[in-house]
Amino acid sequence: MIDNKQPIGVFDSGYGGLTILNELLKELPEYDFLYLGDNARSPYGTRSYDVVYDYTLQAVEQLFSMGCELIILACNTASAKALRTIQQKDLPKIDPNKRVLGVIRPSVEKLGALTQTKHVGVLGTVGTVRSNSYPMEIEKLYPEIEVVQEACPMWVPLVENNEFTTSGGRYFIKKNIENLLSKDSQIDTIVLGCTHYPILKDEVKRYLPNSVNLIAQGEIVAKSLKDYLKRHPEMEVRCSKNGEREFLTTEFVDSFEEKASRFLNKNLKAQHISY
Ligand code: DGL
Repeated sequence: MIDNKQPIGVFDSGYGGLTILNELLKELPEYDFLYLGDNARSPYGTRSYDVVYDYTLQAVEQLFSMGCELIILACNTASAKALRTIQQKDLPKIDPNKRVLGVIRPSVEKLGALTQTKHVGVLGTVGTVRSNSYPMEIEKLYPEIEVVQEACPMWVPLVENNEFTTSGGRYFIKKNIENLLSKDSQIDTIVLGCTHYPILKDEVKRYLPNSVNLIAQGEIVAKSLKDYLKRHPEMEVRCSKNGEREFLTTEFVDSFEEKASRFLNKNLKAQHISY
């Protein structure tokens, strides 16, 4: 473990959050990061509100107990179903000085800034789409924008099993994109509202007109965190900066190391954790 350090915690149900971590490491390389993937209980995308909330809160408490002062929920499903309750109900009791941030708000800000037609699309897990978190957040910030959503339940398994460039994989990607576009022909901006989906970006683009903006969240979340740390010096000084990274998984270490290395394009060592 990172002794006497206060790494920034990055949590996902599994591997998807690594697409966010990748960009965080580019934008904020000097900080320590502690990544936790709840691979044993992934996917979260098909689970109920209560289950996702319970699992996410357990992970947050675990990361706090390991020294994190600030945690990024690098998972749309957890951000959609657990973030608000954790921020409003749990954090004041656990420690009002600690912070948990999500990935939906910064993505919505980007959507709003990019769309010209004011018609946008959201691709996500069943859980994220059903929660209506994107339409609600968009309505708050940009009430003039029309939103349509499409749940893509096959996409996370396609990524995790490396099947997305096969004809079977492409069938599902094409089908979901066509479904989304058929709901609103004026869409000019689409967010990949699941942290696994940036891996599919090139495949998704095959089925989109060139004029459509496709937003992956990693860079946006990284820039938004950098800005947050600038605006909150009291939190910035509490995040340790030794450039260290640690990886924890609730499932098999070997398969985590193998798959995570593919997501991050470098070899890494992970440790098993149960809580
Ligand atoms: N990475 C998660 C997200 O961003 C989805 C994966 C899962 O279903 O567990 O929603």
